[in-house]
Amino acid sequence: MTATPFEQLGGDAKLRALVERFYALMDSEPGFRGIRKLHPPTLEGSTDKLYMFLSGWMGGPQLYVQKVGPPMLRARHLPFPIAEAERDQWLACMNRAMQECEVPELLRLQLMGAFQKTADWMRNQPG
Ligand code: HEM
Repeated sequence: MTATPFEQLGGDAKLRALVERFYALMDSEPGFRGIRKLHPPTLEGSTDKLYMFLSGWMGGPQLYVQKVGPPMLRARHLPFPIAEAERDQWLACMNRAMQECEVPELLRLQLMGAFQKTADWMRNQPG
């Protein structure tokens, strides 16, 4: 049987480290200021939610569904204006976090393909 992306990544601790790196970069890099300002002042809650969601999304434990409920991701992003610029910042931030966490190249490219589709679906503003 083929390993899930969650298993290929190295499991729970690696996913947690990836999500923490993602938000640390968002918090510190000027290039991600546009999406940082859409988030709450402290990022612990965002970190927990994205970690729980990605666990299930990558084929691991369905933590988000168990603890929060149906993801309804597009609806949950409607309060935040997301156009191409915000989509591209989110994707660049995730790509960099994966590189810094040394996610294997092929897995990183596969995940980027899937993230691109999900992030594009979240757009709710023209441009
Ligand atoms: C397209 C650009 C995106 C922007 C600008 C964005 C921004 C945000 C913001 C501002 C929040 C609220 C944070 C909070 O409540 O602490 C959020 C929540 C969340 N985002 Fe995104 N996001 C984007 C894409 C994505 C993608 C691609 C995924 C998944 C692959 C994702 C997954 C989540 C999850 C799971 C939550 C928590 C939802 C909840 O329980 O309220 N986001 N996002």
